Amino acid sequence: MRTSALALLVAAAGTHVAAQTTTAPAGPTVSITPGGVDTGLRGNATVVTNNPAGKVYKATLPKDAFFKAAYPEGGNIEGSFVAVASQNGTGVNFKIKLSNLPKTGGPFMYHLHVQPVPENGNCTATLAHHDPFIRGEASLCNKAYPETCQVGDLSGKYGDIPLGSDTWEAEYTDAYASTLEGIGAFFGNRSIVVHYANKTRITCASFKLEVDGSGGAAPPKDDEECTSAGHAHPTGASNSTVAPTGGRPTPPAPSAPAPTAAGSNLRASGAAVVAFAAAIMFML
Ligand SMILES: *[C@@H]1O[C@H](CO)[C@@H](O)[C@H](O)[C@H]1NC(C)=O
Ligand SMILES: *[C@@H]1O[C@H](CO)[C@@H](O)[C@H](O)[C@H]1NC(C)=O
Ligand SMILES: *[C@@H]1O[C@H](CO)[C@@H](O)[C@H](O)[C@H]1NC(C)=O
Ligand SMILES: *[C@@H]1O[C@H](CO)[C@@H](O)[C@H](O)[C@H]1NC(C)=O
Ligand SMILES: *[C@@H]1O[C@H](CO)[C@@H](O)[C@H](O)[C@H]1NC(C)=O
Ligand SMILES: *[C@@H]1O[C@H](CO)[C@@H](O)[C@H](O)[C@H]1NC(C)=O
Repeated sequence: MRTSALALLVAAAGTHVAAQTTTAPAGPTVSITPGGVDTGLRGNATVVTNNPAGKVYKATLPKDAFFKAAYPEGGNIEGSFVAVASQNGTGVNFKIKLSNLPKTGGPFMYHLHVQPVPENGNCTATLAHHDPFIRGEASLCNKAYPETCQVGDLSGKYGDIPLGSDTWEAEYTDAYASTLEGIGAFFGNRSIVVHYANKTRITCASFKLEVDGSGGAAPPKDDEECTSAGHAHPTGASNSTVAPTGGRPTPPAPSAPAPTAAGSNLRASGAAVVAFAAAIMFML
């Protein structure tokens, strides 16, 4: 599947060049726009507007690098990637703090990867970039059109980690990566990988649920104001090798009983606000 998807992308890239003089044959679902931005096989990434309030995911880099040659005397890049939904549920705020960065081989790229890191710390086993819309690697991410980038290509969208500094911090809100369990863009069960400029994997860490802000009263999932019904949320995109289903995305399985009265709605959102505040305190 992956091979054929890649082949498609490569073929599409070829037709793009050809399109300047001739008419490109209409590709099945891939389109490459005149601006040079790629659209995923499943379309552009959709903005997720119902990320759950209060949940905090954190990936903390391990003590030792996966690529041992990066730190011949032991050690690793130190720091973490903390992710929490915007208070209004639209987008996820990332806070990144790193130190002891390598002195060579930069600028460094970092991405969300499909699989979590196994016990033995094997960064290769995290497989490909988290790419639920199957955008592929045929061209670089165009920062001006983040919806056309792989959901997991955070450094592509927000910039590489520069070479020449021991420490680096960044904070931004990404509209496409999601902390909502059940949709393809969910990354809470996946990982982050930091690469050299030549793509060699230096280190990686799985995301862990650090604060479960739901407090037993999960925000309503089928509230009309909170859902992004109408947006395509590819599901089952646990890896980037799945073929597009073409069909309707399956809705996330309900994980909490829907509140039945306005009162419980209020209680739920009250709890969410408290949990969010707790999450902020936690991060400070
Ligand atoms: C994807 O986004 C790009 C940039 O905004 C746009 O040119 C292109 O038409 C979009 N593709 C689809 C299928 O919406
Ligand atoms: C949600 O909050 C973010 C800031 O956290 C803001 O940039 C965005 O415009 C808000 N979106 C809506 C729909 O209110
Ligand atoms: C990638 O770059 C690093 C740092 O310069 C180097 O140690 C490593 O050997 C390179 N990997 C490949 C495959 O060239
Ligand atoms: C690491 O993962 C890759 C990909 O799954 C696998 O091919 C390799 O054998 C693994 N290495 C170790 C030491 O587990
Ligand atoms: C992660 O969660 C998504 C959505 O809930 C699911 O489709 C995917 O299979 C999960 N991936 C892993 C590696 O557990
Ligand atoms: C990738 O997804 C496909 C389709 O959902 C599934 O058949 C396959 O087992 C998955 N592979 C991995 C490594 O999760």
